[in-house]
Amino acid sequence: MRILPLAIGTFAIVACGAAAITQARNSQPSISNPTLPIAAAAIGVGAPVSAAEAAAIMKTRHDGMEEMGKAMKVLHRDLDSDDPNMGEIRSAAAVIYKNSKAASDWFPAGTGPEAGKTGAKPDIWQNPKDFAAKLAGLQHYAQQYYQASLTGDAGTLKANEDTISGACKACHDKYRMETKH
Ligand code: HEC
Repeated sequence: MRILPLAIGTFAIVACGAAAITQARNSQPSISNPTLPIAAAAIGVGAPVSAAEAAAIMKTRHDGMEEMGKAMKVLHRDLDSDDPNMGEIRSAAAVIYKNSKAASDWFPAGTGPEAGKTGAKPDIWQNPKDFAAKLAGLQHYAQQYYQASLTGDAGTLKANEDTISGACKACHDKYRMETKH
């Protein structure tokens, strides 16, 4: 039987993909080595948003950050318990992953202290690249963490909890003021 070169090529690609999947299933999740691409955040790019848009975005931002804060508490509680609830852990990791991506749209120009009461420091818009890099850090770790949560290995998740809380802290230390609003 004659096999066309094209058919061989296609088969090779399929075989390769299957091997990669088997390997991914069998290996430990590598949380500390994030490699997957994330869309760059559009921070401080373009004209400032209108006052009405700013108010809406700042509300979304506040609610989204609060939601991540609650999810972090759930993670801590479950990973510290003797009988961690994997369903809760997965939901919390999913919220952090989802919101970390959504946060790319939470800091357009015009949503700083000039627009109303906020914990967002003006430095965000003075150092947009550094701020975006800090957000990208969280996005990478949150994606890795969420994927790792799907394997159900609470020990690995506990050992890597700091990758997430550290990414929150790295940004808050520099760009967030403690304000009640
Ligand atoms: C790239 C920067 C950045 C990262 C990463 C980040 N935050 Fe924030 N966070 C902020 C800023 C800025 C504010 C203040 C927002 C405001 O007041 O409008 C904030 C506010 C908050 C608040 C208070 C709510 C509010 O609006 O004041 C909570 C809770 C919070 N963040 C939780 C988290 C958690 C949990 C993580 C990690 C899973 C995280 N954040 C990651 C920048 C960040």
